[in-house]
Amino acid sequence: MTATSIRSICCIGAGYVGGPTMAVIADRCPDVQVTVVDINQARIDAWNDEDLSRLPVYEPGLDAVVGRARGRNLHFSTAVEEAIAAADMVFISVNTPTKTKGLGAGQASDLRWVEACARTVARAAKGHTIVVEKSTLPVRTAEAVKAILSAASTEGGERSFSVLSNPEFLAEGTAIPDLESPDRVLIGGEHPEAIDALAQVYGQWVPQERILRTNLWSSELSKLTANAFLAQRISSINSIAALCEATGADVREVGRAIGTDSRIGPKFLNAGPGFGGSCFQKDILNLVYLCRHFGLPEVADYWESVVNLNTWQQHRIARIVVQKLFGTVTGKRLAILGFAFKADTNDTREAPAIRIARDLLEEGAQLAIHDPKVEPEQIERDLNLPASEAPDAEAGPTRAALSGEGTWWSSAEVADAVAGADAVLILTEWKHYRQLNWDQLAPLMRKPAWVFDARAVVDPAAVAASGLKLWRVGDGDA
Ligand code: NAD
Ligand code: UGA
Repeated sequence: MTATSIRSICCIGAGYVGGPTMAVIADRCPDVQVTVVDINQARIDAWNDEDLSRLPVYEPGLDAVVGRARGRNLHFSTAVEEAIAAADMVFISVNTPTKTKGLGAGQASDLRWVEACARTVARAAKGHTIVVEKSTLPVRTAEAVKAILSAASTEGGERSFSVLSNPEFLAEGTAIPDLESPDRVLIGGEHPEAIDALAQVYGQWVPQERILRTNLWSSELSKLTANAFLAQRISSINSIAALCEATGADVREVGRAIGTDSRIGPKFLNAGPGFGGSCFQKDILNLVYLCRHFGLPEVADYWESVVNLNTWQQHRIARIVVQKLFGTVTGKRLAILGFAFKADTNDTREAPAIRIARDLLEEGAQLAIHDPKVEPEQIERDLNLPASEAPDAEAGPTRAALSGEGTWWSSAEVADAVAGADAVLILTEWKHYRQLNWDQLAPLMRKPAWVFDARAVVDPAAVAASGLKLWRVGDGDA
């Protein structure tokens, strides 16, 4: 087959990666029919919702891209096998979470969904099909995918397969610009014609010099390595933030001082409540598992420490809140601003807010949680605790509060969350939180009242002028 023959793409998995990635491919390649399939009917229905504000993934700019391509050459469907049969290229973009039980539990990736996809492709594909691993996978997964597919290949060549690895590097919140103008596109494979075919799809909008070609294993491992390096920078700066707090240095000044060294660079040096998101922890733990499997325990320990420091940072922040509030938060009302793992997304997977909120609930706190994009039902699932009725801020602690039971409720407005609170915790860097009017909020709070700014987004002078006490991550003067 020639590289130009890709006319029909199927993507299995309509999640945070499959949806936006395919929307951009369809937008940029109007001659290619792109069908995104999923077993989750509700998700597919949401992708097909006429109201573009109700797409299942919130990403700035995604609605416009979907609006241009949907119905033209972008389709969302649950007819998985039908779409595979019609496609000459199938992307596998399903979830690969950490295993929760069995061999490698807590570290290895659970590949059951990827294997299920490979088997479905093996069953349904027609003609020659290029199968592209888009999910993040342990190095050498392509071996298993190839074995399943080759068992379904026919001698006469009516059914044959090529496997490529094409990991995705988009970050949530900036998915559309990341996809439209990627630093690089990585394609790993064994068959040059298959690599060329995928390179041609991307070549519709990505300059050729940004399309990197490697062998399958380098491609798979590069994805895990990229995430490990990024997460390592965050743990590094968070470790220095704690030292700054102890010594009077300011982590932002240190970050600026080291970031201007062109060898270090300025990005990913923001101290905060630790990294969240569905991938950093999962991918590092997967790397750790692989290193142990291949007899490299020192390498495994090295990378595991990046995750351990991240967990420590989240518990540390909860501990600081308790300590500053006279050693107890039992029955105290605290406002949590931001539940998403970062700004500009509705995703809460591994959000630092989850661990911090759980620690505070364990201490018996009353949490008023505000987030502009996260649904209360999601918070309920993440905390594994049903929401309570919002108590009357004027009425003092409820009976449940005084009994030491931690409770939470969702506040639609920042002012409602803050009313009657002893402290405000900023856990996501939503733009809105940078512009809060502390002169208006401070009088609503019970004094002495604190602002714990884990994202360093507030103006310290404005908080101080309103009479509130301020703790900022990595600020030795706080
Ligand atoms: P997700 O959970 O949002 O979406 C996965 C989708 O796959 C779900 O809707 C699920 O129903 C569907 N699915 C699972 N098995 C299926 C099957 N057999 N047939 C049809 N549909 C099936 O996951 P995601 O965040 O899009 O991540 C997908 C992969 O991409 C993961 O490997 C992840 O590590 C990687 N990744 C994620 C990001 C990110 O920002 N979220 C970035 C880069 C890479
Ligand atoms: C990350 C990577 O950046 C993507 O390249 C990768 O494709 C993706 O993981 C993945 O494989 O899933 P994402 O998790 O969406 O993307 O978001 P990031 O911007 O990397 O942020 C991750 C976490 O680190 C967030 O909680 C963020 O607040 C935190 N962070 C980031 C910091 O605490 N400080 C920083 O300086 C940067």
